[in-house]
Amino acid sequence: MPIRQSNRCDLVKQSDIRSMTLACAERGGINLAQGVCDLDVPEPVLQGAADAMREGYNVYTRFDGLPELRLAIAEKQRRFQGLNLDPETQIVVSAGATGAFQAACTALLEAGDEVLLFEPYYGYHVSTLRAMDVTPRFVPLHAPDWSFDDAELEAAASPRLRAVVLNTPCNPCGKVFSRAELERVADFCQAHDLFLFTDEIYEHFVYDGLEHVSPACLPGMEERTIAISGASKVFAVTGWRLGWASCHPRWREPIGHFNDLYYVCAPAPLQIGVARGITGLGQEYYHELAEDHGKKRDRFCEALKNAGLAPHVPQGAYYALADISSLPGRDSRERAMHLLERTGVACVPGRAFWHDGAGEGLARFCFAKRWPELNQACERLERLS
Ligand SMILES: Cc1ncc(COP(=O)(O)O)c(C=O)c1O
Repeated sequence: MPIRQSNRCDLVKQSDIRSMTLACAERGGINLAQGVCDLDVPEPVLQGAADAMREGYNVYTRFDGLPELRLAIAEKQRRFQGLNLDPETQIVVSAGATGAFQAACTALLEAGDEVLLFEPYYGYHVSTLRAMDVTPRFVPLHAPDWSFDDAELEAAASPRLRAVVLNTPCNPCGKVFSRAELERVADFCQAHDLFLFTDEIYEHFVYDGLEHVSPACLPGMEERTIAISGASKVFAVTGWRLGWASCHPRWREPIGHFNDLYYVCAPAPLQIGVARGITGLGQEYYHELAEDHGKKRDRFCEALKNAGLAPHVPQGAYYALADISSLPGRDSRERAMHLLERTGVACVPGRAFWHDGAGEGLARFCFAKRWPELNQACERLERLS
């Protein structure tokens, strides 16, 4: 038998997000495909990281991160969610939310387990699970309000089901799970003795006066929730690779040890930058962030409407799914390419977010862009009609 790569490589082929980004760059287009937040990094975050290098934060940190950052995260969670996390035993700082999710899944799941995800989903969640030989099961979120059905949730239960993955606010559909919905998911997790992995990376991108509820706050969920978040989006530092998992003290060592194995630690001076950002930025920073993105959402969804691409107006995160079924093409990829050729605006084909054909009439657009670029994208789309 000739030497060959592992079967796992088929699971992590180039994503539609990356390939649309490349196609966009070749054409000099406006990239609304990738979820890169183009905003300025807040000054305390930048200054904190720069100072930290001079102050000597240049060596390995403890496997679960520097105490300054764990303390800052715990205080922030108390301030925003009323959660009482012990920074010594309940937080693992990792290489982004992506690293935290990988370490948590490796520590808590077995090959052959099943894990339930709401659909549309964030592709990395599914690929991470598949690469570990864990089988994803899907429960649909139904448009237009992306609600889920208890009977469909219950039907996904099985003796091999070990966990639920829940992304709120959700990429790509922007759903912000309400407290009542989260309680239904929490009941399901308790009834079937499941972990709940939450991805709360967009926790500060919530519009229309809605509030983000961290599921770990719900009664009975403290021990079984692994809450994942990070600095990538809120401080516009996607390249820093800074995220974290918070959990019951029982899981900190298993998760932390895999974090150590994969990444050793998150970048030390950048941990300090994020810590000083969290402690140095007041409520108004988060308020303005949500307000600015809310305005961008409104402008962009208006442009989609004017272009004849009916949007699903998101409640949170910074993506809009839109109906592209009227564009020529046999599937969402061809339609997205058609849109790129005609307008120079790149989006992600909807098929990236559903395991079957359900996304073929949709595309996802990221509106976390600077105003001039966003306005230009809007004008280009509006010329479609
Ligand atoms: C739902 C979700 N989780 C996680 C991430 C990645 O986070 P990080 O940069 O902290 O790894 C993204 C980025 O797009 C995302 O949309």
